[in-house]
Amino acid sequence: MNKIHICKSSDIPSNGMKSYDVAGGLKVLIANAGASYYAYQGICPHQEVCLDEGFYDGSVLTCHQHLWQWDITTGAAVGLAEAPLESYEVKVEEGEIFVMRASALKVAELFVGVSDETLERLNKIARREEHKSGSTLYDIGDSTDDLYVLESGRVEFMIGRDNRTSAAGFVLVKGEVFGWAALLDHQPQRIAKAACLEDSAMLRLSGEKTLQILESDPVSGYSVMRKLSGLITRLITVPVGK
Ligand code: FES
Repeated sequence: MNKIHICKSSDIPSNGMKSYDVAGGLKVLIANAGASYYAYQGICPHQEVCLDEGFYDGSVLTCHQHLWQWDITTGAAVGLAEAPLESYEVKVEEGEIFVMRASALKVAELFVGVSDETLERLNKIARREEHKSGSTLYDIGDSTDDLYVLESGRVEFMIGRDNRTSAAGFVLVKGEVFGWAALLDHQPQRIAKAACLEDSAMLRLSGEKTLQILESDPVSGYSVMRKLSGLITRLITVPVGK
């Protein structure tokens, strides 16, 4: 768990809300309801709209754009809303508000099914990195040493050569894994360029060390490899431009 300082409790109006940009491109909405504080994703799960521009009456949060609503105590969808809000555990210590964020590894689809012990070992070898919007993470032809798990922000992929690169047709969001060629044999070079579309944070893991850990826990390793093969199949069947 990462403990992230957000603000003072006195910064949040009684039965009101405010949103904060946290390092790594994460936007967090903090809401007060009586004696309690709640933390949710700051962007509407429907479209890219800031939830602090919506309405909040101390119990229900409403996005002003299409009127999706959520129960502030749980983040559960109410009425028209088709998706809940992602919530974060809140700690208030001496008047300071912190949110606790689970490791991106914990929510990454690739690692669902991995034992807690192996996940902890993977967490230990993961390095957290933050990159500005527009940064290139790797380019075509670079070596495939590491894989990445996106924690926040968005990453786009380009394929092609020199100035003739074009979007590969997909953009990754939180919890998605990329650079997974680091887990494959005979894939020494990147075949796409990865760049941040906005300020982004990610975990970076050595492919070699990840494989060593997975080989020592064959059940978890088998689960990861099955999911990886499904991921590759999905990607190669996505037509370019979609
Ligand atoms: S953008 Fe928020 S409900 Fe549509």
